[in-house]
Amino acid sequence: MLILGIESSCDETAAALVRDGRTVLSSVIATSVAEHAVYGGVVPEIASRRHTESIVQVTRQAFQEAGLTPREVDAVAVTSAPGLIGALLVGVNFAKAAAYGLGVPLIPVHHVRGHIAANYIAHPNLVPPFLCLCVSGGTTALVDVKTYTQMEVLGATRDDSVGECFDKVARVLDLGYPGGPPLDRIGRTGNDKAYPFPRAHVQNSDLDLSFSGLKTAVINLAHNARQKGEPLSIPDLAASFSAAVSDSLVPRSMAALSLTGYDKLAVAGGVAANSRIRADLSAACQDRGISLFLPPLSLCGDNAAMIGCQGYYEYQAGKRGDLSLNAFATMDISRG
Ligand code: KG4
Repeated sequence: MLILGIESSCDETAAALVRDGRTVLSSVIATSVAEHAVYGGVVPEIASRRHTESIVQVTRQAFQEAGLTPREVDAVAVTSAPGLIGALLVGVNFAKAAAYGLGVPLIPVHHVRGHIAANYIAHPNLVPPFLCLCVSGGTTALVDVKTYTQMEVLGATRDDSVGECFDKVARVLDLGYPGGPPLDRIGRTGNDKAYPFPRAHVQNSDLDLSFSGLKTAVINLAHNARQKGEPLSIPDLAASFSAAVSDSLVPRSMAALSLTGYDKLAVAGGVAANSRIRADLSAACQDRGISLFLPPLSLCGDNAAMIGCQGYYEYQAGKRGDLSLNAFATMDISRG
């Protein structure tokens, strides 16, 4: 079954052609990230405009690269939630028109389910059930992936997402947007014990997380050092910050594995690219005999291949959209 996947939930306009959920024939991404960088974060209106301008060309290119024609498509899958509403609407309306024009089914896909599915593309042997640590710009959650389409959130952030925390810290340090990649790169040369940042615990919850206190601690430290004219080591700060994030994510992932009894952990979302988190999860999983599934860096960020992949499994489960399909800024992953 050939699926055209469409993704436009944030600042990437993407189209992909995916065969039977696991084989990516083409995957094209146009990003407006450079325009947002000037403002220190995504400007929703700019993102929507760029999606409108790029979506036709990106889709054409996906067909060209796969050597296929639109008439060969069996279904169109599209990210319909969660994300920036104006951005989502561009992809949803384009996908509706494409499905209607081609006379094929339309499949709405939850964006974070798509991030999880990126692991199916990278790891042919990965099948549910498993635990997934979802860490992106909008989501931080431990998800019990019971089947391809049945999921339950076991723990989640009570405040900021981990990606947002990376982006805000980087902004204060003038490292640009998005902040995760430079903090990751610079932190590799720093001392991760130089700055003792807090590791937050959520009362009465072993699996929920909190990052707003850590974010504030880093920002206060940077402001205080600047006001007093004291030296601040950016590599040490980046390393200490990444260590604090990882110390929050890794033990909770291990606790969720104990709770579910699973021996498989997958990681999904943009922050899954972080080298410190990848290394710490690898070590913890190795100690416990857990199989760890990490997406390649090329599939950590937003793309449409993951939407085509998850769309296949949603289709198998009977999910369909029609011309009344709407986009939603928020949506529980269990409702997907
Ligand atoms: O999954 P994604 O591309 O978009 C959403 O669906 O939200 O995630 C974007 C987030 C940004 O906050 C970005 O700073 C972060 O992923 N990120 C990283 C790294 N690469 C991207 N965070 C930490 N370390 C990285 N290497």
